[in-house]
Amino acid sequence: MNAPVTPPAALPPLFLDVTDFEREAQAKLPAMSWSYLSGGASDELTLRWNRESYDRLRLRPRALVDVSQLDPSITLLGRRHSFPLLLAPAAYQGLTHPEADLATVRGANAADVTLVASTFSSHTIEDIAAQAARPLWLQLYIQRDREFTRALIRRAEKSGCEAVVVTVDTPVLGPRNRELRARFSLPPGVERANLRGVANAGGAHRSTEGAIYSALLDPSLTWKDIAWLKAQTSLPILLKGILNPDDAVRAAEAGVAGIIVSNHGARNLDTEPATIDALPEVVAKVGGRLPILVDGGIRRGTDILKALALGANAVLIGRPYLYGLAVDGSAGVTRVINILRREFEMAMAVCGRTSIAEIDATVLWR
Ligand SMILES: Cc1cc2nc3c(=O)[nH]c(=O)nc-3n(C[C@H](O)[C@H](O)[C@H](O)COP(=O)(O)O)c2cc1C
Repeated sequence: MNAPVTPPAALPPLFLDVTDFEREAQAKLPAMSWSYLSGGASDELTLRWNRESYDRLRLRPRALVDVSQLDPSITLLGRRHSFPLLLAPAAYQGLTHPEADLATVRGANAADVTLVASTFSSHTIEDIAAQAARPLWLQLYIQRDREFTRALIRRAEKSGCEAVVVTVDTPVLGPRNRELRARFSLPPGVERANLRGVANAGGAHRSTEGAIYSALLDPSLTWKDIAWLKAQTSLPILLKGILNPDDAVRAAEAGVAGIIVSNHGARNLDTEPATIDALPEVVAKVGGRLPILVDGGIRRGTDILKALALGANAVLIGRPYLYGLAVDGSAGVTRVINILRREFEMAMAVCGRTSIAEIDATVLWR
């Protein structure tokens, strides 16, 4: 009689794509942190569309091209990036990992990628910069206290930041009901480190019942404030959260250094379009006048190729690297970036493109 077949020992789970990290992050994180990280506004329709619109785009392979040498590097605002991807600003990373933004910057830089540090980071911009191997960009929520804002820009300059990214799509936070249902509040130990000493820093970020405004956002911001900001610093200023092509034209006229087509990861206004659907009209209006970046829903290297095909100069990811951070700290951030890089390079190769300059709309199957 044959010996019974020994069942194979349980194999450790593989982390092959962003979805694997997402699943594990959800299993690992407390419900409140998960709801903050994963949620969108209202019915989360835009959150779904941010993904579905990428899935609907199809790629056009090209055969018999020598793709034995690939160069996925770009130059953005005078600096070389080995891959057209940056990490989007994310507040309150202390909810995701004890080392928070410090792990993120180490993980990003180990993969040769730039981090855009949030105004609401869990560590100060100085502390994040001290761990950085590549210059940071600072994301700015202009505070009602303009003196504080001016001081934060000075601190960013001193820390070697190379750009200021002003978020312009958040006069108020959207109805983030998933967060509210999970009773979102900042646990002890997770602070807004950059805001130490600011009068309203301890105030509620979330609006209280009956109110729509946040103590930490200025709902009176206008284009005049962008002009004011430009006068405060010689650093390049990018506007993050441009979706309306008319706003893109105003941004170009205002002389900013770049725009980020973003719907804030679908967290503020439900039923606005997917960013990849808004991108072509923005590119048609201002393409070539200033760098255009895009974020929202990018989960695959093929998504990056599609965004570039539609005219983006580079992309940013938010939740994917936070999943990596939740699962494995700085190493998880590096792994998520490297997975996207590998998928992107594979897609470049099969589509017969050896450099970023060769990626245009003919990469898409229309
Ligand atoms: C947990 C979390 C926190 C965020 N915090 C900020 C922030 O502090 N400032 C900001 O401009 N955008 C913030 N965003 C939006 C991201 O910068 C980015 O636009 C968005 O996450 C991109 O979509 P994706 O998550 O689908 O990649 C946050 C997003 C998430 C998921």
